[in-house]
Amino acid sequence: MERTFVMVKPEGVQRGLIGEVLRRIEQKGLRITRLAMGRIEPAVAAEHYAHLKDKPFFGELVEYITSGPVAMAVVEGPNAVRHVRNLIGATNPLEAAPGTIRGDFAVELPYNIVHASDSPETAEIEIKRFFGAE
Ligand code: TYD
Repeated sequence: MERTFVMVKPEGVQRGLIGEVLRRIEQKGLRITRLAMGRIEPAVAAEHYAHLKDKPFFGELVEYITSGPVAMAVVEGPNAVRHVRNLIGATNPLEAAPGTIRGDFAVELPYNIVHASDSPETAEIEIKRFFGAE
């Protein structure tokens, strides 16, 4: 069993897509074990996107992810990390295949609806970052 961290980003929440994202995860056969609404503090956003801090879009990215409420979930199941990454599709909506969440609901970066951890190690760090200690 593996865990991953999923976040419906501010424009996903604004567009009423929390249910759609969670529905696709549940339909796949994965289990939602924690769920919360919240707002990301700028310092936490900067930490979350630290691997992109030298990119020209870093400031906009932090501004975007902190611009409104987000929905956060812990998702569990066999190979949960890879399954959820497959469900959300490529980072750039232009490259995300139709049928994926980003492919079906987004048109351009940085607005790609949803975040999901890219490895089991990152997932544990992100679950701790956004949900705190168990
Ligand atoms: P990244 O961690 O590379 O991708 P993913 O979200 O698929 O794990 O990037 C984090 C976010 O940064 C991404 O979801 C959207 C934004 N972003 C841009 O706005 N422009 C870009 O060129 C890239 C690579 C990312």
